[in-house]
Amino acid sequence: MRVCLFYTMDDSALTRLAAQYGTPLYVYDGDLITARCRQFAGAFRGYPAKVKCCYALKANTNLAILRLIQREGFGADIVSAGELDAALKAGFKPQDIIYTSNGKSEADLKAAVAAGIHVTADNVADIDLLKRVGGQSIAFRVNPDVNANTHPKISTALRGIKFGLHFEDDIAYDAVKKAKDMGLKVSGIHCHIGSNIKEASAFAEAGRKMLDFAVRLKTGLGIQLEFIDFGGGLGVRYHDEKVITPAEFAQAYLPVIEDGIRRLGYTPQVWFEPGRFIVAESGVLLARVLSVKDTPEKRFINVDAGFNDLIRPAMYDAYHNVRLAGKSGEGRLYDVAGYLCESGDILARDRKLPQAAEGDVVVIENAGAYGFSMASNYNSQPLPAEVLVRGGKADLIRERQAVQELYIRQKIPRDLL
Ligand code: LLP
Repeated sequence: MRVCLFYTMDDSALTRLAAQYGTPLYVYDGDLITARCRQFAGAFRGYPAKVKCCYALKANTNLAILRLIQREGFGADIVSAGELDAALKAGFKPQDIIYTSNGKSEADLKAAVAAGIHVTADNVADIDLLKRVGGQSIAFRVNPDVNANTHPKISTALRGIKFGLHFEDDIAYDAVKKAKDMGLKVSGIHCHIGSNIKEASAFAEAGRKMLDFAVRLKTGLGIQLEFIDFGGGLGVRYHDEKVITPAEFAQAYLPVIEDGIRRLGYTPQVWFEPGRFIVAESGVLLARVLSVKDTPEKRFINVDAGFNDLIRPAMYDAYHNVRLAGKSGEGRLYDVAGYLCESGDILARDRKLPQAAEGDVVVIENAGAYGFSMASNYNSQPLPAEVLVRGGKADLIRERQAVQELYIRQKIPRDLL
């Protein structure tokens, strides 16, 4: 089944790009990214509160892609000083940026305060640190303890998970009270229950718990929040899974928010942080077939990409549809093997593909989110190049890293020379 939604690029165009820029190569459909931004933001039309969509940079941080998303009126969810730099370079306004990681150093928070962005405290130490570096307002990442029924490695609001301040034992409440008592303005509350979620009920449950907490802050501490941020998490179809649409996502939160506004007696802004939904389907990773190899048990297609370029199959057993550019029909079963020295470096297992040959271009679909952004230099492989296609026009948006760049920051001590 073909699940890739590329609007503008057919296989012959992709093959040309592979020849022009080399492989491995990420290619993104900018028109699809723009369409996804509009579809997501459009789902909240008619909402009873002001909605802000903050793109989660970690899904894909290429500056050209960030520009496209910023131009659609999105804000940014960031998790490091590096992502802050990228967000500012891409033109996101400080008041539209929120910093949500669970680990922030003093230097990170100094940079955040200097830039004037929103910061969430993930723990009590963050409150003291933020105050120390001159922060005046603070938001809170809470952990609503919701099982989003997704891969365990990307479930972020279970009871035993490291993220956020739990409601249990008043951990979150006491943290907010502490910040208030220290003279910090409490601007908002935030949660993120996980990624690639396919059930509306999990979002609704988290929403309910967030609103209950907001009500408690109002009645107990007299706090009126500027915003409630429900995080990201909307899943996409990689194979044949049933997913929910942005409209269904928005619908899941709506009754909770309507009821919450009634109970609160004021209307906070409502923020969301989509990452995957905005960029996943827009990207393909192109790799070149180096050889086709028979073993007693398997037939492998060896390609010039690996989990250094796309770690999702190795890390989460993620399924990415693959096809051979310009070839059709079903030949036989292949495993698409990466070029790294690890048996686990398999990009796709047991796939029925047309007869493969050396030099073919393999298209690995739905690789726009958490693809390049999780790439590494393992096995001293340079980071791949990236191309953005809009209206059929292709622009190189990242040059391939050169081998000569790999070791420039290393130093051999004098006595070892
Ligand atoms: N907000 C926060 C605080 C997050 O931690 C994340 C993702 C998002 C928003 C965006 O979630 P999304 O809409 O993309 O689901 N590397 C994994 C995904 C990790 C997601 C981490 N947090 C993967 O490749 O599946």
